[in-house]
Amino acid sequence: MNLPDPALVVLVGPSGSGKSTWAGARYRRDEIVSSDALRGVVGSGPHDLDATGDAFDLLERVVAARTGRGLTTVVDTLGTDQVRRRAWLARAREVGLPAVLVVMDTPDAECRRRNAARDRPVPAPVLAGQLTRHRALVPELGLEGWDVVHTVTAEETSAEPPKASREPAVERRTSQGLKVVLQVSRFPWGEDPLAWLTGVARAADQAGFAGLSLMDHLIQIPQVDRAWASIPEPWVTLGAVAGLGTELELGTLVTPVTFRAPGITAKAAATLDVLTGGRAFVGVGAGWWEREHAAYGLDFPPPRERLDALERGIETMKALWAAGTKPHDGARVSLPETTCYPRPVGTLPVIVGGTGPRTLRVAATLGDAANVPSARPALDGYVETLRRRSESVRVTVLDLPTIGTDREDAWARVERLRGRTAAAAYAERTHAGTVADQRDRWGGLADLGVDTVFLGVADLDGADDVERLAGLLA
Ligand code: UTP
Ligand code: MG
Repeated sequence: MNLPDPALVVLVGPSGSGKSTWAGARYRRDEIVSSDALRGVVGSGPHDLDATGDAFDLLERVVAARTGRGLTTVVDTLGTDQVRRRAWLARAREVGLPAVLVVMDTPDAECRRRNAARDRPVPAPVLAGQLTRHRALVPELGLEGWDVVHTVTAEETSAEPPKASREPAVERRTSQGLKVVLQVSRFPWGEDPLAWLTGVARAADQAGFAGLSLMDHLIQIPQVDRAWASIPEPWVTLGAVAGLGTELELGTLVTPVTFRAPGITAKAAATLDVLTGGRAFVGVGAGWWEREHAAYGLDFPPPRERLDALERGIETMKALWAAGTKPHDGARVSLPETTCYPRPVGTLPVIVGGTGPRTLRVAATLGDAANVPSARPALDGYVETLRRRSESVRVTVLDLPTIGTDREDAWARVERLRGRTAAAAYAERTHAGTVADQRDRWGGLADLGVDTVFLGVADLDGADDVERLAGLLA
């Protein structure tokens, strides 16, 4: 089914026929204007019938404003009011948008069944009236002059699960087959951290990023910003992002095993996984920055012990996430029971960050993915090492490019960002160039077998900068 887009799309169907579900599975949230949702905005909730007048006033203003800008607008109401329907059709004509009518053809019994299963069912006589009116209305709709009248059968609604289902969403990949996750490492969020975070996460979701990852550091690292710049606790922060209801996969890149007992990380990640319907991941590493450990009263043992802890940590997390509560008696870790509820929704991927030979071995043997820097030719060597040990371990890269709208802009950014590094060196190290340049380079990464790009840009100041990156995700 290919409906014109952009378009004005008007839904018609009784309660429980699946209008909102159909729309939610096909359109961005901001494209849908729903009388129920607006009752909740101007009244006490979606069922506040006293707020209907105000809700429709607002709905008409949204329809007028969006269509005036040529934006796709999906009108989610019962659709039975002929005067309103004809006015929407006229509006579409006026602004030159295709006018699409989507008519639900869900069997009455199915509407009743879905209605009854709801928290606040529409009273049975009201639904009966809607069903009768709908049947009478359907034959007339074809005569109103809509450009497309699309009938949605019960099979079509039930074939596609509602977007809010607990199933992991379809993975977002670029045409090159790459998953691109926005790595957020700076937080210039001013007076309103939550608003900033919300803006960045929503923009990343709308731009088509597959996910959002956060650094896990206790003090901002010198590679990124000053020590007094904000660097929030990532699991708490990801919890706030989870509350936004985006389709983004969420996790850390990476959590040092030295920061928290691995069972606690397992608990945090499993919680995030259920809050996101199965879209959490955990990046883990051995930790490297002594200063933050000392400042926070944490041990920072020598590398070999940290790598031992990394192995034990991954084994512990996987044991706790496994089915059942049986004791775990593994190669490195013994646990008397593995009672960890909530359980992750699906497999919770562990991404092991680092490039040392032992870290790569840990990634290939205990992890689901390895994260290494994207720079060639070193990357080619890491991939070879990983592949020697595992066919299936996914290769993910941390990519830190300087991206400009054109060559001029890219070089202006290099000049702003380079600090004391020579411009040419900084430009080379950060692959300074346009979106198209990055895409060309990423083609090479995809050919090498890279699965995921964690994209960090040094001058990501907020949502506007995320939108600037949307072209990377085509
Ligand atoms: P909707 O909430 O999509 O119906 O689905 P609607 O037409 O928009 O209803 P009103 O007019 O706003 O009242 C109703 C219920 O049916 C389930 C949804 O999850 C929701 O609880 N549903 C919908 C299914 O179980 N399967 C479907 O294919 C569609
Ligand atoms: Mg609805």
